[in-house]
Amino acid sequence: MTTEILNKLDTSFKKEVYEGLTSDLKYLSSKYIYDKKGDKLFQDIMAMPSYYLTDCEFEILSIHTAEIAKLFNESTKGFDLIELGAGDGKKTKVLLKHLVNNDYNFVYKPIDISQNAIDSLSATLADEISDLTVDAEKGEYFEVLDRLKKFDTRKKAIVVLGSNIGNLLHPRAIEFLTQLKDTMKEGDVLFMGFDQKKNPQTILEAYNDLEGVTEAFNKNLLHRINSELGGNFNPDNFKHWEVYDPETGTAKSFLVSLKAQSVKISAIDLEVSFKPWETIHTEISQKYDDETVHWLAKESGLKITTDFTDSNAYYKNYVFTR
Ligand code: AVI
Repeated sequence: MTTEILNKLDTSFKKEVYEGLTSDLKYLSSKYIYDKKGDKLFQDIMAMPSYYLTDCEFEILSIHTAEIAKLFNESTKGFDLIELGAGDGKKTKVLLKHLVNNDYNFVYKPIDISQNAIDSLSATLADEISDLTVDAEKGEYFEVLDRLKKFDTRKKAIVVLGSNIGNLLHPRAIEFLTQLKDTMKEGDVLFMGFDQKKNPQTILEAYNDLEGVTEAFNKNLLHRINSELGGNFNPDNFKHWEVYDPETGTAKSFLVSLKAQSVKISAIDLEVSFKPWETIHTEISQKYDDETVHWLAKESGLKITTDFTDSNAYYKNYVFTR
């Protein structure tokens, strides 16, 4: 890479787009899907019955609210409830309402990569749970981990819902869990959602809706490159494709080029050519079983103390301590 190009890659978005689209097998990171439009499309996905994950986790949080609240609480000093990837907080609100109504002493600290998500969550919380103390922050997972260390004067309950960890490959997930553990003291808890292996058809349908919402969600990456980096992608020239491997539990999303085409991205001085049927890998959504989650915990130096599942056993929330 020349110094001239290096100088142009002055944001992580530019750098990662450059790296991903100049790689032999092209890829783009799904974390860049989330701008205002991407957030809205993800909310639409979560509202679709085929995307069962949301309903399953909502069921778990609704049925076990009091038990989870007790796990989080510390009776003398109270606790800090830190949520990574808070999004629209739909599921967390069940818990937050219970905690506020039962006079638990806590501060809710939602963190999200999208400023738009943070702003709208803060507004809806002020409206719906006015007695809640909220201290919201924008940030990416790995970036905010260091800042979490300063929450060390009382118990921390760290919450990561939505099987968000599934967007990381296992080595990266272990890195993430290890760093989370490093921010935790004895007594702190980590409450995390993991989508489980199940009928492969059910999983494929969750990522392959006929309405095309998931397709639009993935293609938002191309729209964002167009609007923020001066790209000229024609998203209609790509097809969304989902595969699920029941052996590894990995669901993968691709955008497949429907023809030979070339795309210019002016902000990073790049012209990329695509052969017909060439792919851009955009996302992994890992599915788990107990064995894999216990292995991840062990590799990260965490202990699993309990877990909760929904009536179909499609999804699980595990409680980790260090
Ligand atoms: C945020 N993440 C856990 C979702 C998932 O299931 O991988 C994003 C998503 N992609 C397609 N549909 C939903």
